[in-house]
Amino acid sequence: TYESDLPFDRLDSRRRRELAFKQYQERLHIPTEALQKLTDAFIEQLELGLREKQRSSLLMLPTMVDVLPQGQERGEYYSIDSGGKNIRLLYTRLGKDKHTVEEEKVEVSRVPVELHKVPVEELFDYIAKRMISWSETQGCAIAERQRPVLGFCCSFPVDHHALDAGSLIQWSKGFENPGGVGADPAKLLREAFQRQGVPRVHINALLNDTVATLAAARYLDGPDAIGSVIMGTGTNACYIEQLGNITKWMPRYRARTPDMVVNIEWPGFAAPELPVLEEDRALDAESNNPGQQQFEKMTAGLYTGDIARRLLLSLAEDGELFSGAVPERLRRMGAFTTTLMNLAAEDATPDLARVGAVLEEAFGLPAVQTKPDIRREVRQVCVLVRERSARLIAAMIAGILRHLHRDRPRTAGGELPRTVVAVDGGVFVRHADYRAEVLAGVRDILGDAVADRFSLKVVEAGSPFGAACVAAAADSYMRVAGG
Ligand code: GLC
Repeated sequence: TYESDLPFDRLDSRRRRELAFKQYQERLHIPTEALQKLTDAFIEQLELGLREKQRSSLLMLPTMVDVLPQGQERGEYYSIDSGGKNIRLLYTRLGKDKHTVEEEKVEVSRVPVELHKVPVEELFDYIAKRMISWSETQGCAIAERQRPVLGFCCSFPVDHHALDAGSLIQWSKGFENPGGVGADPAKLLREAFQRQGVPRVHINALLNDTVATLAAARYLDGPDAIGSVIMGTGTNACYIEQLGNITKWMPRYRARTPDMVVNIEWPGFAAPELPVLEEDRALDAESNNPGQQQFEKMTAGLYTGDIARRLLLSLAEDGELFSGAVPERLRRMGAFTTTLMNLAAEDATPDLARVGAVLEEAFGLPAVQTKPDIRREVRQVCVLVRERSARLIAAMIAGILRHLHRDRPRTAGGELPRTVVAVDGGVFVRHADYRAEVLAGVRDILGDAVADRFSLKVVEAGSPFGAACVAAAADSYMRVAGG
């Protein structure tokens, strides 16, 4: 149809929508120059966080992981990974040959939402009980082992006192169990196993999921990976730093290597350069940790669907997106998950049937009633929100690369180094388009030469496996050292 064929009122509303869309594009798309400034701001915070406690928005937590698994660890290990939508249990036997896994059993289950707010001991009792009963059904009963060694991946910020001890700095991602903040998650888990009558579980490693993912990549693939990024319910990253650069910290132990994995805790990243929209502020105000983790709320799986919902709502209210109708569910926080958002964003069917189905599922809009141009606009909003997340993450990754001088040759006239970052989390694992957008962002910021030698390596379910590997590395070190 030509515009001149349209009745005036329709033309008017269509023009209005077009205008609204242009504005959305301008608000959500972050141009390369702005990304570069964001990268600079991130590096500044990162380096400040290494030098001084509490002055940076990035916690920059030393993890006590100074030796990463090398692939020759052997034996039988358990691990638990908890701290998002899912809890993962793992039993593994690391093989005789380097980098081999002889046996592996995994269970993934949802953490019931009722457990997000109960006293922390109840949450940990649930976790311990699950491990005990699950391992029994798998024929590797933890309760029957003499000295079962377990790595615990706890995906929240922890201030470490040792590899196997630390205190929880804060909850996030919907968890707010009383008694948790300030407590030692490893100790809580040990006590929970004791209450369940299984006191012999030896929890020798407490790890963030980013660190566990990096460890898994190292075990499976060797020494290429310099860091890792999680993009799932929450988001975060870690990387290998030189111990000497962490000047805020005086380790009271003998370092075995000059390196230390640092948990950046980038959910808290804040800088004037971060393009926070009014929808982001509204989401933050309604979240259960207002004023905290703004960066995570702009990027991670728990939140991005809801940002898209807020944008669709204002379009429906102002721009007559659904012919003036505002479905009740469109007003409900959480009605539009990131999974649905990604499904809509990736719909390549000619009539966008999937977008239609998504709108029906999320907001109860009968698919037959959503016209193709409406579906196109909905998809566009989803693409924009997702792309903004990917570009923000790219700016942070570019920051890590630049901080580590991975954007320049090591020797005069030499080649640029090859850099691998391990990734895990539902959004990274399930959405190749998202990964491609992150890579494109890195390319925009650092240029082709660096981007050509940079890659993201998916390590699916890397956290539980990595936790077992670190437990294995710590265990063999203890045995060799006679500890
Ligand atoms: C959260 C936690 C962080 C974790 C990330 C990914 O934001 O603060 O420790 O790594 O989620 O699960």
